[in-house]
Amino acid sequence: MPPTMAPDADKPRIAVLAGDGIGPEIVAAARLLLDALGGFEYEDVLIGGASIDAGGEALTADALAACRGADAVLLGAVGGPKWDSTDPDAPRPEQGLLGLRKGLGLYANLRPVKPIPALLDASPLRRSRIEGTDLLVVRELTGGIYFGRKERDAGTAVDECVYTSAEVERIATIAFAAAERRGRGGHGRVTSVDKANVLETSRLWREVVGDVGRRFPQVELEHLLVDNAAMQIVAEPTRFDVIVTENMFGDILSDEAAMITGSLGMLPSASLGDSGPGVFEPVHGSAPDIAGEGVANPLATFLSAAMMLRHGLGDGDGADRIEHAVGAALGAGLRTADLFTGAAGERRADTEAMTAAVIAAL
Ligand code: IPM
Ligand code: MG
Repeated sequence: MPPTMAPDADKPRIAVLAGDGIGPEIVAAARLLLDALGGFEYEDVLIGGASIDAGGEALTADALAACRGADAVLLGAVGGPKWDSTDPDAPRPEQGLLGLRKGLGLYANLRPVKPIPALLDASPLRRSRIEGTDLLVVRELTGGIYFGRKERDAGTAVDECVYTSAEVERIATIAFAAAERRGRGGHGRVTSVDKANVLETSRLWREVVGDVGRRFPQVELEHLLVDNAAMQIVAEPTRFDVIVTENMFGDILSDEAAMITGSLGMLPSASLGDSGPGVFEPVHGSAPDIAGEGVANPLATFLSAAMMLRHGLGDGDGADRIEHAVGAALGAGLRTADLFTGAAGERRADTEAMTAAVIAAL
């Protein structure tokens, strides 16, 4: 008799970290979508404010271990006014997210910005300016000022920003490889964003990115200062291909770039390391102002689930199906509140209606 497999041993196991605010709603919607594709097992894990409420810590060692043991991690959002405090000793929901990224070694954060045709008029930027935008923000995720020494006493606060050449080299390599793979304009281009006119970390960044670039002679490299980059992202987004930048600049520029897609509620992300499970989460936050109302836009989470299938579970077909279905639901005129402009053909949708439409279009 052939050996019998444990039931469902071949099904990918997804750690589901709903988090706070709208997190539970959008993650529940993504689960319905994944169920419609079929073949996944889930494990619910606490993170953020929900975890602080349960035990005082934003991410427990057990929670991190559960994520490490999964094939991929799907995350909603963390944070909210309930846990906001300027007390340096108070636990913060965001510590859970940062601990997860660091704990899993997820140094590469990919945030693709490509407006869906049906939403070209939903952006605050003119259609003529954004049409044709297809850029990828590659954000360094486990270094820099986010993870440096922090200090606080009476009237002084310190956040240290540290980068090593090894940290810069590995993220630059990801960016050049992505540009090569995308092959935009026949060769691909990397825009490295820094503040080399002021910051020592940026001068190291610029040198090391240049060195890595020499290993990819067919990919064009340009350096931009971050203030200039912030301006050019809205002035001429189509000029960009791959943007590689340090942790905090990437945080800021990706929220800015999200508006090209019509709403922060559209932008997905993948956080990857050299091995082990990746974390897949929408770029937006926990939106406490609309939490619990059932009106949140689930599409960034759906698109993050697509990135999970493509980058985390080796299922490019499933990813394509989700992305196509999202485009179809929007193409049919469905709009969550954040995307609604009142133009002819638009129909208002809450989270449930949008989810049903995407599932129907799978
Ligand atoms: C993001 C978020 C996080 C970050 C916060 C919640 C810590 O803004 O993923 O962009 O700053 O990285
Ligand atoms: Mg952010």
